[in-house]
Amino acid sequence: MNAFEILQTRRAIRNYENREVEREKIERLLEAATLAPNDRMREPWSFFVIQGETKKRYEKLAYEYLQERFPTKPHLIESSIKVVSQTPVMIAVTSDILPEEADSKDNEYAVCCAIHSMWLAAQELNLGFVWRTRGVGLVHDGRLHDFIGSPKDKKIIGMVFLGYPNQKELEEVKTKKRTHFQEKTVWL
Ligand SMILES: Cc1cc2nc3c(=O)[nH]c(=O)nc-3n(C[C@H](O)[C@H](O)[C@H](O)COP(=O)(O)O)c2cc1C
Repeated sequence: MNAFEILQTRRAIRNYENREVEREKIERLLEAATLAPNDRMREPWSFFVIQGETKKRYEKLAYEYLQERFPTKPHLIESSIKVVSQTPVMIAVTSDILPEEADSKDNEYAVCCAIHSMWLAAQELNLGFVWRTRGVGLVHDGRLHDFIGSPKDKKIIGMVFLGYPNQKELEEVKTKKRTHFQEKTVWL
């Protein structure tokens, strides 16, 4: 696939086959991330790979968080936890916080580029991928920081979920449409 084909076919995939992802493929994604553009080569990203036993502990944390947030919605909690248990690999991606706010912001932008690079690489490697912040992504829950053992000078930008894609979902998401760029562009 060329770059344009990858951009056109990339989709958020949230359901995966019950199959391990090879370590080499996870490493390829991490390598792709580190190729992203970044201001003054600060390379502000760090990655925390969550799988196996650690993922079981993550499920517990997600359960606590969901129970606090949605105490009257047990079905939502159950289906959300299933999402975690059925995801083979998760990776938390952080950005270095610096004394200058502008530098910290640029770092965050670079980390967003890095996550997108991983997403495109996942497409090339036939992996399903989604960047989550809300819900079981736990990015807005302070406890995630301690969970991954990250220093406080790093901000969590995303939790990516990945695995071999569920084929049915892969077909369904193909039809997703975008607003034409002409409606989003002002030629000054
Ligand atoms: C910053 C960011 C945060 C996102 N957070 C979530 C999330 O919490 N849960 C989720 O299911 N998808 C999340 N997504 C995925 C988007 O919902 C998805 O990219 C969007 O629906 C467009 O679909 P597409 O990626 O298939 O083109 C997020 C995407 C981005 C870029």
